[in-house]
Amino acid sequence: MRLTILGGGGFRVPLVYRALLNDRGSGRVTHVTLHDLDESRIAAIGRVLAELADGVADAPEVTITTDLDEALKGADFVFSAIRVGGLQGRAVDERVAIEEGVIGQETVGAGGIAYGLRTLPFALELAKRIAAVAPEAWVINFTNPAGMVTEAMSRHLGERVIGICDSPVGLGRRVAMALGVDPAAVRMDYAGLNHLGWLRGVHVDGRDLMPRLLADEQALTSFEEGKLFGADWLRTIGCVPNEYLHYYYFNREAVAASRAAGLTRGALLIEQQRRFYGHEGGSAVAAWEDARLERESTYMAENRQAAGVGERESCDLESGGYEQVALALMRAIALDERTTLILNVRGRGTLAPLDDDAVVEVPCSVDAGGARPLAVGPLTGHAAGLVTTVKAVERSVIEAATGGSRAAALRALATHPLVDSVAVAGRLLERYEAELPQLGYLRGKA
Ligand code: G6P
Ligand code: MN
Repeated sequence: MRLTILGGGGFRVPLVYRALLNDRGSGRVTHVTLHDLDESRIAAIGRVLAELADGVADAPEVTITTDLDEALKGADFVFSAIRVGGLQGRAVDERVAIEEGVIGQETVGAGGIAYGLRTLPFALELAKRIAAVAPEAWVINFTNPAGMVTEAMSRHLGERVIGICDSPVGLGRRVAMALGVDPAAVRMDYAGLNHLGWLRGVHVDGRDLMPRLLADEQALTSFEEGKLFGADWLRTIGCVPNEYLHYYYFNREAVAASRAAGLTRGALLIEQQRRFYGHEGGSAVAAWEDARLERESTYMAENRQAAGVGERESCDLESGGYEQVALALMRAIALDERTTLILNVRGRGTLAPLDDDAVVEVPCSVDAGGARPLAVGPLTGHAAGLVTTVKAVERSVIEAATGGSRAAALRALATHPLVDSVAVAGRLLERYEAELPQLGYLRGKA
């Protein structure tokens, strides 16, 4: 089986490759093609993979290329993990937003919109190219903002593109452990959009353990989301939100913490990764592992600081989310081994009040036929309102990217619930256009 990774020089590629090395089952990936436009990044990642494969029998063969069509031809699976504009672009997305007094994050609010505006034209071209060159391939989208990017790509790839995120799995695992139950035995009633979802029920043997969790102060405050949101708030809304909802529920505190931090997340990662990609001599795996651990331990540090909670739990520093979801998804499709995973797919009307084509993040049944969203209860109350509004924002971004409409880009920014004024949205757009050359298309400059 052949896997192609677009954005093959990306920092998290070794996670995927390491998971492939540990997969000893039949029908596993035998060939990995890394595609990237940046030869030095791909070479650095190639060195890590070679070191990981050293001494492992039947390690998947790795090919490196900068030619897209060559990378796509014959692929069974394509992982799309690109970063248009690199981390430099991310740092701009985040800094400009913070300077305008709104949240600066790569997937949420103004930063997510800027990242989407930069990424979508490229992602749409990529989707067209995949549909032409590898029409049989399954595309697993890792690229953030994952929900928006997956929905845009689905216009050319239909249900062959599936978006993934590890945050719902991480949440499910933490909640199961807080309850003292086996994560594998739990059916999670989770629904929403990517980075905008809620765990509403935790079903084990037909019983919902959510009421038990909410009633148990100690269990409820023993894991990341419980600490971030606090037991009182979780009881008030009767569910456990995805950690990214912290930017919404505690917006003022999160903005203040990012302003106080000085460096944006993107700028911090540029520094961390400079050390890894520029590393010479010694073990490439050790240098990568150092940078990975540093990245994990500083993840959402500002939110934790705003909430007054300490360091991340050591089990949350281990990887095993992101790449495991991708591998499980790929195996379920390739080997027709039916499983349930929380994925970003077209909702096909299963998640009221959203329409059929809206990409949503819900539990899906996966087998050789792909991923089908399972029936879930509707979103209600404020969650329904928030998701409907943010989906409309996403669609404005897609409209801007497909039609080059500056008005749609402005509408996206101005109607986002975390951008508090049309005037602020106007300034944000002007500043993003000034700092991000990839947004030239909004003014008719290709
Ligand atoms: C989580 C999110 C991903 C994000 C990753 C890394 O896993 O679900 O969407 O890419 O964290 O975040 P970072 O801030 O380290 O780039
Ligand atoms: Mn994610």
